[in-house]
Amino acid sequence: MSTRTYQRWAPEHWEEYAVLDSGDRSRLERFGTLLLDRPDPSAVWSRSLDFDAWDKANARFEPTGMTKGNWVPLESVPEGWNLKYRSPRLDLTFQLEMTRFKHVGVFPEQAVNWEFIAEHLKPGDAFLNLFAYTGGASLAARAAGADVTHVDAIRQVVDWTRINMELSGLDGIRWVVEDALKFAQREQRRGKKYRGIVLDPPTWGLGPKGQKWRLEDQLLNLCETVAALVEPGGFIIMNTYSGIAPSALETVWDRILPAASSEAGELCLRGEDGHWIPTGSLIRITTQP
Ligand SMILES: C[S@@+](CC[C@H](N)C(=O)[O-])C[C@H]1O[C@@H](n2cnc3c(N)ncnc32)[C@H](O)[C@@H]1O
Repeated sequence: MSTRTYQRWAPEHWEEYAVLDSGDRSRLERFGTLLLDRPDPSAVWSRSLDFDAWDKANARFEPTGMTKGNWVPLESVPEGWNLKYRSPRLDLTFQLEMTRFKHVGVFPEQAVNWEFIAEHLKPGDAFLNLFAYTGGASLAARAAGADVTHVDAIRQVVDWTRINMELSGLDGIRWVVEDALKFAQREQRRGKKYRGIVLDPPTWGLGPKGQKWRLEDQLLNLCETVAALVEPGGFIIMNTYSGIAPSALETVWDRILPAASSEAGELCLRGEDGHWIPTGSLIRITTQP
C-alpha cells in the first residue's frame, strides 16, 4: 500500500486567460478580450471582489437545467473570438464561442497537460487523444511533432478542432468521429501501440448508436483497453470531471498496471488572489521501459 502525497496542478503564466475572482458558486474569467461570469458549483466560498467588478462581465451564463442554459450578454459580445496560449514550448490558438453548455471551447486547466505532453513526446511518436473535444492535447502533441489520432463522437466538435489546428499553424492530425471505446478496442485488435494516450471521459458519454452511457459503467473496460495500447516507457493521462477522487483513479490504475509509476491529484485553476479552484481529478501513469 502506498503512502502517497496528492498533487495540485494549475496553469501558470497564461497571458490571455485569468480567473479574476470566484465564489458564491461562480467564476469571473477573462478569456482574451472577453470577461465571462459562469457557474462553478465547487466555488463554495464567498467572492473577494465587489459587485462592480463582476458587473464588468461581457456575459453571464444562466442555467435553465442540469446541463444547459443561456448566455445573457451584459455588453455587446462577438459570436466567436480567439484565445492564444503561449509558453516557451507552445504557441496555440483556440477559436471560442459561448455554447449552451456553459463551455466556451477550451478547458483552461488542461494547459498543465498540454505542457506535459509537449515535454514528453518527440517527433514521430504516436499519440492518441480520446474524448478529445476541441483538441488542446492534440495540438500540443502535434506541435511536438507527434503523429496524432484525435477521437471524438461528435463531428461538429472535430470540425471545430480542425479550425484550432489551422489557427495554430499545424496540420496532419488524423480525425476519427467514433465512440472512443469502440475505436480503442479496434486498435487493440490491430496490435497498435501509442507512446502517449490522453483520456478525458465525460460523466455521460455517447455510445456508437448515440445511446447514453454512464462513466462508472464503462470505466474499467475503458482503462483496461487503453492500458493495452500504451508502449513500454509511454504515458497515459486520465482526467475526470465526474467526482471520481484521485485516490480512486490511483487504485484503478495500480490494479491494471501494477508495475507502472503514477502521480495523481487535483486539476485546478488559480485565482488572481492565489486561491486554488478545483476542477477535476487527474492521474498520469508512466509504464516501465
Ligand atoms: C470533457 S470533454 C473533453 C475535454 C478535453 N479534454 C479538452 O481538454 O478539451 C468530453 C468530450 O467527449 C466527447 N464524447 C462523449 N462521448 C463520447 C464517446 N463515447 N466517444 C468519444 N467521444 C465522446 C464529447 O463530444 C466531448 O467533446
